[in-house]
Amino acid sequence: MEQKKIILTGDRPTGKLHIGHYVGSLRRRVELQNSGLYDKIFIFEADGQALTDNIDDPEKVRQNVIEVALDYLACGIDPAKSTIFIQSQIPELCELTFYFMDLVTVSRLQRNPTVKTEIQMRNFETSIPVGFFTYPISQAADITAFKATTVPVGEDQEPMLEQAREIVRRFNYIYGDTLVEPEILLPDNAACLRLPGTDGKAKMSKSLGNCIYLSDSADEVEKKIRSMYTDPDHLKVSDPGKVEGNTVFTYLDAFSRPEHFCRYLPDYANLDELKAHYRRGGLGDVKVKKFLSAVMQEELEPIRTRRKEFEQDIPAVYDMLKKGCEVAREAAAETLSEVRRAMKINYFDDEELIAGQAERFRTK
Ligand code: TRP
Repeated sequence: MEQKKIILTGDRPTGKLHIGHYVGSLRRRVELQNSGLYDKIFIFEADGQALTDNIDDPEKVRQNVIEVALDYLACGIDPAKSTIFIQSQIPELCELTFYFMDLVTVSRLQRNPTVKTEIQMRNFETSIPVGFFTYPISQAADITAFKATTVPVGEDQEPMLEQAREIVRRFNYIYGDTLVEPEILLPDNAACLRLPGTDGKAKMSKSLGNCIYLSDSADEVEKKIRSMYTDPDHLKVSDPGKVEGNTVFTYLDAFSRPEHFCRYLPDYANLDELKAHYRRGGLGDVKVKKFLSAVMQEELEPIRTRRKEFEQDIPAVYDMLKKGCEVAREAAAETLSEVRRAMKINYFDDEELIAGQAERFRTK
């Protein structure tokens, strides 16, 4: 039997989604969804994972569950084609995590580079919550409970996928072929791997105030682009400018397509020509920013409009999530029953076991 192609990916609902999420993963998910190449698509909100470092602020997670759902729908994730669900509503994921915990060592978790940096970022060095420390294991459960073959995520998730693959290999080695080894699917455009903040800092983050949100108004987007970090040595228009590390150009790498030039900046055939002019000197930041703004507004406007429409019927959004949870739970339950059988903890649905034991004790 040919293996089914199954996508699974998700986000922590700790804030509204921004354009880093969009170019890094969301845009791709919609393309994959509409490609018709996948048998099943699961997109979920990792609220349980969000709580591992927000345990004292459950209201934040609760509020953002609906925001992220709206962002998904606004981007074009279609509940008729993709199952959207919420992690905490699928108890099978906890059960699978519990079994996986025996397949991973503490030192292996300590070596996970993502966990390492996150521990530093959160000043958890001296008091790491166990749940936070072990979230790569629960993430492996998220992925494998749905037998996902393909996980489209940003490159920061690479260590998580490696961990999941190791767990699958170990599980299948001990208990026989049961789980599926997932493949990571990274953005194919380097600028999309990690879009910097509008201030040029490596990461977009709410606390740094350097994000453009999918739900930002046209005015807000305009303002954020106008104050965007460029080349600090490019003072006069005539000065030669640097394109590398220049946020406006990084964003153009992520958003612009050749057809944008005929529409908004017909003096240039493509981005390479624009970059060459900037490097030579004689091209001002304002002109480039205006172009970026036109390009980004074109992409963000339909998202904004769709979001507004979905905001008009919030109960329907919760209903969609609830139905998604039911579908997801059924899929996870099926895997879990295979897992229990493989791990020999399926005592009551195994008639052979009962008959065999009866026989053993009879002949004693
Ligand atoms: N850790 C991911 C993030 O921070 C969210 C996530 C949780 C996830 N479980 C997942 C992503 C499973 C892909 C697959 O964005």
